[in-house]
Amino acid sequence: MRDLLPPAVAVAVAEPPDWDGQLYAAEAACLGDRVVASRRRDFTAGRVCARRAMAMLGLPPVAVPAGADRSPIWPPGTVGTITHTRGYCAAAVGRGSEIRAVGMDAEQHRELSPEVRRLICLPEEEEQADRLPPGVSWPTVVFSAKETVYKVWHPIVGSWLGFHDALVEVDPATATFTARIAPAQVAAASIAHPPTVITGRFAVDPHLVRTAAALAADLGT
Ligand SMILES: CC(C)(COP(=O)(O)OP(=O)(O)OC[C@H]1O[C@@H](n2cnc3c(N)ncnc32)[C@H](O)[C@@H]1OP(=O)(O)O)[C@@H](O)C(=O)NCCC(=O)NCCS
Repeated sequence: MRDLLPPAVAVAVAEPPDWDGQLYAAEAACLGDRVVASRRRDFTAGRVCARRAMAMLGLPPVAVPAGADRSPIWPPGTVGTITHTRGYCAAAVGRGSEIRAVGMDAEQHRELSPEVRRLICLPEEEEQADRLPPGVSWPTVVFSAKETVYKVWHPIVGSWLGFHDALVEVDPATATFTARIAPAQVAAASIAHPPTVITGRFAVDPHLVRTAAALAADLGT
């Protein structure tokens, strides 16, 4: 993930067995008592990574509770993002003065069923997947890019974005993606200057697909 984001964003990654750590009381309260062990482990790994990333920026270790919608509540003046999948967890944190929003997603690298492809992909994205070089599950890259886009969009705009509300174009030569947000969603946004285009980077290995994107604070786009 480090290579997928600008230097101003601090990135911390945890892979087993490096998952352990402590939750702060405010975080444990968000998680509750009735969650399965795997959910507690993933949530904790995310918070451990978040504090490691904050430390890289010279920030003190503080709680990162979750809102009612499950989105992390970052300390004032900071923005961040968390992702976890089997065997991998990462958090990224930036200063709000430099970074408007950051999103990141990791997925297992596997083929999606035709049904899931249709739920995730617009027809243009399905056609794109058929054209791109073999050996990569391109619909999974599109899926991950869309989750990243949602993690960028939602904290600043506050509204839901469905999988068909962004058109993702993938460039394998540069390992980048460009997501164009549906004009109706942009028009409906209740903030000034909602993002209309979100660009990011991706990385693919035999096990994982990773995507990340950050908006610079001064661009306002
Ligand atoms: C929220 C969502 C993006 C999380 O992605 P995921 O692949 O299921 O899981 P990940 O491990 O990558 O990310 C989970 C983390 O996302 C973060 N998250 C949850 N809701 C979030 C939100 N609304 N905004 C930003 N981050 C959010 C949390 O930190 C969560 O981890 P935690 O609960 O342990 O703190 C996904 O569950 C979802 O709701 N997707 C539908 C919306 C969407 O993606 N639309 C596509 C728009 S083009």
